[in-house]
Amino acid sequence: MTPTFFIRTYGCQMNERDSEAVACLLETRGFHQVEGEDEADVLLFNTCSVRDQAERKVLGKLGLLKRLKRVKPHLVIGVLGCMAQRLGEEIPAKLPHVDLVVGTDQIQTLPDLLLAQLEERRPGVYLERSDASLPMLGLHAPGKISAFIAVMRGCNQGCSYCVVPEVRGREKSRPVTDIVEEATRLVAGGTQEIFLLGQNITAYGVAELRRAGTWNPELSPFADLLRAVCAVPGLRRVRFTSPHPNYMNAAFVRAVAELPRVCDHFHVPVQSGSDRILQAMKRNYTAAAYLERIRALREARPGAAFSTDVIVGFPGETDEDFAATRELMQTADFDMAYIFKYSPRPGTLAERQVDDVPQAVKKQRNEILLKDLDARSLAHNTARVGEDVEVLAEGPSLRNRERWSGRSSDNKNVIFTPEPGLEIGQLRQVRITRATSHSLFGDLLPE
Ligand code: 5AD
Ligand code: SF4
Repeated sequence: MTPTFFIRTYGCQMNERDSEAVACLLETRGFHQVEGEDEADVLLFNTCSVRDQAERKVLGKLGLLKRLKRVKPHLVIGVLGCMAQRLGEEIPAKLPHVDLVVGTDQIQTLPDLLLAQLEERRPGVYLERSDASLPMLGLHAPGKISAFIAVMRGCNQGCSYCVVPEVRGREKSRPVTDIVEEATRLVAGGTQEIFLLGQNITAYGVAELRRAGTWNPELSPFADLLRAVCAVPGLRRVRFTSPHPNYMNAAFVRAVAELPRVCDHFHVPVQSGSDRILQAMKRNYTAAAYLERIRALREARPGAAFSTDVIVGFPGETDEDFAATRELMQTADFDMAYIFKYSPRPGTLAERQVDDVPQAVKKQRNEILLKDLDARSLAHNTARVGEDVEVLAEGPSLRNRERWSGRSSDNKNVIFTPEPGLEIGQLRQVRITRATSHSLFGDLLPE
């Protein structure tokens, strides 16, 4: 009998990528992935710890499964990823119907753990740190037009609010040759766009050079990686996330300027526009230094779009600090951003500071920034009407199946009417006729 599994993913793109690799690994070991929870012998939850809310969501979901397990006792429930790593034994202690808790460096052991579990029920918590999960990262679901490649794991940055270094461990970069080989295989299978992933991606390769005693801040191993990946024959687009401004040095900017396959969109987390708060966050740059990096990138890539991550309501954030964030976002001219309300995380440095910004104020600041963004993106998008934009066709739009959607190089969602014979993965020109703050609408131009 083929055991079936269902996997649900919370959190960031790295988690999505891990889930994809886990699913492939399980398929190679005789498991079969299903789309519905009800049909599965194994339920897996790949979890996130970045904010309290992300954890509560999963804990709530797991709580609800207690009843299901009673009527379906053979069901295996596994918790993977960041929250598994952070809470470990606490999970089965609170939720005894959870069978397996598998941390971020142990996902490669899942097939064996699950097989043992299905045979003779051996619940357990597996959190050991290791590099053994790296090779399995080469596994991909076939036929993806746009594919993720995890180029490094972990983070050494030590931002005071962030749980990632604890749950994902120290930075480990994969060799350039492995990544290029993976990209080459993907392109041979039809991939047009590769999205390079790392929690601190501009520090790719830095920890290894530091260890070897050959690190020099003028180097950019990530720029070298970008050059190597862009040289893969047949690959059309390269994106990456998330960079840290401090590693966006001249070598990096030069590479971006010289590599047309690198897309015209850069997501550069700023977190705050107040120097006082940036210092308390241990970001190690000032607002002016950040803006200078953005300016240099814009000069290298005129017309590129920029987006960011911002935390509102960090401990001690005053109206003045918040005003500085608002102003920085205007100066940088972001039209997309992920805005987060500060959430104290156990074990982080910031947790020792009082979470003194009231929830209502966090909410209000969040709303103000979202409104600003909406206005800017409407202005940016409206200015595009009449332009011809290159779009990677992704298939029928979720809202209206008669129209298709795709992404422009600068990461705008473009909706257009398909022509007969149009295929997913084609790069086509679309003439923009209408815009909202969320999308561009237009007509497909003949090839
Ligand atoms: N509270 C709120 N937001 C956070 N982030 C990271 N840690 C926290 C926290 N404790 C945000 C940052 C980061 C993004 C992935 O999540 O903006 O860039
Ligand atoms: Fe969440 Fe961070 Fe883990 Fe991604 S790396 S799943 S954002 S805690």
